[in-house]
Amino acid sequence: MVLKTRNEGSGLLKHKVIRNKMRIARVLMKDPYLSSFIPETAWFSIKELERMLKKYKVAYVKPNKGLQGEGIIRIKSLPNKKFEISYSKKTKIKKFDSMVNKVIKLLDKRRDYLIQQGLDLATYENRPYDFRFLLVKHLDRWHLTMSSAKVAAMKDSIVTNVTYNSRWLPPDELQHSIYKVLNESDQTINPMATLRELMDLSYQIANTLGGQFPFYMLGLDLAVDKNGSIWFFEANTSPAIKPMKKVNDPKWFAIVKTALKDIEIQT
Ligand SMILES: Nc1ncnc2c1ncn2[C@@H]1O[C@H](COP(=O)(O)OP(=O)(O)O)[C@@H](O)[C@H]1O
Ligand SMILES: [Mg+2]
Repeated sequence: MVLKTRNEGSGLLKHKVIRNKMRIARVLMKDPYLSSFIPETAWFSIKELERMLKKYKVAYVKPNKGLQGEGIIRIKSLPNKKFEISYSKKTKIKKFDSMVNKVIKLLDKRRDYLIQQGLDLATYENRPYDFRFLLVKHLDRWHLTMSSAKVAAMKDSIVTNVTYNSRWLPPDELQHSIYKVLNESDQTINPMATLRELMDLSYQIANTLGGQFPFYMLGLDLAVDKNGSIWFFEANTSPAIKPMKKVNDPKWFAIVKTALKDIEIQT
C-alpha cells in the first residue's frame, strides 16, 4: 500500500486546524461545481431566518465554531403560521415572534452563528443518517481511507453526531457501513451509484480545500436527502479517528495511523 513511505527529508507536514465553518464553506461556495452540493448558508440574522423559512420551510441554526452537534437548532415552518423549534431533545411549537425570541435566547452571545437551508435527510429504521469520510494527504495525494454512516438515535433527532446521540443509544447502533445503510434505506436509493458519487465528491472537496489550506487530514460530513441528492455539511480538520475503526477494515486504521505520524497539528 502506498502510504507506508514517509515524506523523506521534508520533516513533519504542518497541518492547520480550522474550526471556522464559514471560512471553509466560502471556498467551496465559490467553486461552480462544488457549490451545488452545499446547502444555502449565511450568517445568522432574524431576516435571514425568515427568508430561509419562506424558501425552504426548514432552517438550521448552528455555531460557526461548533462541535459534535452541540448548540444546533432546527426551525420548521408549519401550516397556519406556526413554527416548530427543536434543540437538544426538546421540541416546541410557537408563533413567529415567540419562536424568534426563543431562538435568540438559545444563542450564546459570545459565539457567531450560521443559518442554513434545512435538508430532509434520508432515514434508516426511521432514523436520519449522514456520513463521515476520512481522507489523508500523503505524498501529495489525497487518499480516501475510512468511512461510516452515522445514524441518529431517534426518528426526530436533529443531528447525527455519534457523541451526541450516544446519550440515547450505544455507539454500536449508531455507526454502520455506508453501503448497508444506503441499501437498507427507508427511501429507494441506488446504493452503489450513490456511494460512488459520495466518494467522488469527497475527493473533489479534499482537492479543492487542500489547494487553499495546509490540510493533511479531513473528516468530511456528507449526506443524502430523501430524494437521493447528495450534500456537504462540513469539513472537520481535527477528525476523530478511533470511532471509525469498528466499521472499517483494520488495515485502513493502521494506514491512517502511519500517515498521521508524518503530520504536525497546528491549532
Ligand atoms: N442544514 C442541515 N440540514 C439537515 N441537517 C443538518 C444541517 N446542518 C447540520 N445538520 C445535522 O447536524 C449535524 C451536525 O452539523 P455539522 O454542521 O456537522 O456541525 P458539528 O460541527 O456540530 O458537527 C450534521 O451531521 C447533520 O446531521
Ligand atoms: Mg459535524
